[in-house]
Amino acid sequence: MQKGDLLYAGKAKSVYRTGREGVVLIEFRDDITAFDGGKKDILERKGCFNASVSAYLFRLLEEHGIPTHFMDLVEDRLMRVRALTMIPLEVIVRNVAAGSMSRNYPIAEGTPLNPPVIVIDYKDDSRHDPMLNDDLIVALKILTPEELTRVKDIALQVNSVLVRFFSSLGITLVDFKLEFGRADGEIMLGDEISMDSMRLWDNRTGESLDKDVYRFSKGDVMEVYRRVAEKICAGEG
Ligand code: TYD
Repeated sequence: MQKGDLLYAGKAKSVYRTGREGVVLIEFRDDITAFDGGKKDILERKGCFNASVSAYLFRLLEEHGIPTHFMDLVEDRLMRVRALTMIPLEVIVRNVAAGSMSRNYPIAEGTPLNPPVIVIDYKDDSRHDPMLNDDLIVALKILTPEELTRVKDIALQVNSVLVRFFSSLGITLVDFKLEFGRADGEIMLGDEISMDSMRLWDNRTGESLDKDVYRFSKGDVMEVYRRVAEKICAGEG
């Protein structure tokens, strides 16, 4: 599959046109950033690990009837997907308090959240992704009330599938971020689901198995990404 024109380059992924209308290629690059771009590095093969994990998890979600943009992985860091009109939201689902939740509110890191907590941010780096609420999302005409219900419903379904999957690997899915888009009037999951967008804790040791290793210099990031990707994709034929 030939990469066509570059349509968009984000902090860690680039999107290319293909010969087919409505189909694009997402390239997972080796760039890693944190703290609003304040910390930046290039970690060799990171893109491959995130691409294979994303592909595996999108397939798993599709098997559970959850609509995603995923079509196939055409090369080790190149994913073919349906072109979506992206919705400028970051939909975060939390099962355990961590990160900004424990920084911003009086709740200790590690406190279980049952039911899970959904937090939705406005995706706009220039505004530092401010948090929204339901009324703001509708007032800003980002989603209709019906679409908002659908987005939250899909987010919780994704959470159920992923919590069960990671639990079978001895991993706690602490929290993760989803992005959605529209194609032919349908809302579906876009972007990626990878170690860059999830918080994963080893059930036995409590160690971080995700981008927090990079954010807080907790160890060898690539060794952790490689180990987690191997574990997640182990059953793949
Ligand atoms: P959060 O705790 O809000 O932010 P931080 O990582 O700054 O502590 O993050 C919750 C989850 O969502 C975490 O798994 C990382 C992911 N996430 C992203 O992938 N991108 C983002 O821009 C944000 C804010 C979070």
